[in-house]
Amino acid sequence: MSISRALAQAMEGSSWIRRMFEEGVRLKERFGAENVADLSLGNPVIEPPPEVGVRLGELAASPPAGWHRYMPNAGFPSTRAAVAAHLARHTGVAYGAEQVLMTVGAGGALNVALKGLLDPGDEVLCLAPYFVEYRFYVTNHGGVPVVVPCGPDFRPDLERIEAALTPRTRALILNAPNNPTGVVYPGEDLDGVARLLEAASRAQGRPVYLISDEPYRAIVYDGATVPWPVRHYPETLHVTSFSKDLALPGERIGYLAVNPASRDAARLVGAFTFANRILGFVNAPALQQRLVERLLDVRVDLEGYARRRARLLAALEQAGYEVVRPQGAFYLFPRVPGGEDDLDFVRRCLAERLLVVPGTGFGTPGHFRLSYAVTDRDVDLACEALVRVAAALPR
Ligand SMILES: Cc1ncc(COP(=O)(O)O)c(C=O)c1O
Repeated sequence: MSISRALAQAMEGSSWIRRMFEEGVRLKERFGAENVADLSLGNPVIEPPPEVGVRLGELAASPPAGWHRYMPNAGFPSTRAAVAAHLARHTGVAYGAEQVLMTVGAGGALNVALKGLLDPGDEVLCLAPYFVEYRFYVTNHGGVPVVVPCGPDFRPDLERIEAALTPRTRALILNAPNNPTGVVYPGEDLDGVARLLEAASRAQGRPVYLISDEPYRAIVYDGATVPWPVRHYPETLHVTSFSKDLALPGERIGYLAVNPASRDAARLVGAFTFANRILGFVNAPALQQRLVERLLDVRVDLEGYARRRARLLAALEQAGYEVVRPQGAFYLFPRVPGGEDDLDFVRRCLAERLLVVPGTGFGTPGHFRLSYAVTDRDVDLACEALVRVAAALPR
């Protein structure tokens, strides 16, 4: 075989994504893109906030000297200092520039963290439903993903987590607001997870890390707030990006921050910085670092998301779908009605010109994910299609 067997297997395992994507392209060619509701992607259709354009204009009008050059692998000192000050203000934890590493999105940060932590065979707990890429990110670095299902309300199931911890566990990845469920974990859940990781760390004689993946932190509704995991568990690696809160996913900019009170903070940052270099990222994009440095408290206008969320929730509930009402992100993760297989259900949706993602892809069959980072028209078409699909299901 011309390519790695492991990669071929991984590609085959996720080929449903490609098949769905191809089916979507076919539907759009046949019926016109405006007549297909594509709720399958977390790729925001809204534009970034106006401050992004203003700041880009300022940078272009008076470019800093040498602004396209390489820089230290961890990023510009001024950007790292701004991020640290931002985190310190919000968390009350005394982050300094030296604990921040600028990365190629949250995806880059997760790979850097896992590269820095894992030896072959080390285990990483991933709570299901999980972001599709976690399993690949863990295996990229010789690790073993261990899937731990959440409870029925998609909150961490502490008993299952406890049962999954072994002497090989190096980290647990937590993601809230969650993709695909939108659920925000309350502080008591973080306390519960912290107690388990503390016990596991004591048993191992070394920290078991909490990798907190938070690209949706700023996208919340109904006045919800997202607790900061680092305030509950000191060995937390905070990972985030500007892909969702500034709607800049194509610009590939994010960061990783190590708690200054972490037992081995300096060594960790050193390892992650080296990983950033040798994974070929070298450094996060220079222009984007300059951009976000001044926009750390800016976020997209949430009104459009809130409107689409309310519309979809109302339509789903009216049509009899069972759905957890989440507080954040821009996804809903309803149960497939009547206990039907989620891949079959997604095919029914395709026949109604609606593209959604089966729960199987997130390690949680029997559900489907809707993204409302789409236009109002897409949401309208989706609501109509969901009603038709529910009505046609066998009783
Ligand atoms: C939970 C989660 N983590 C990480 C990422 C990767 O984001 P980025 O574009 O910052 O690499 C995504 C993207 O959709 C996500 O949903």
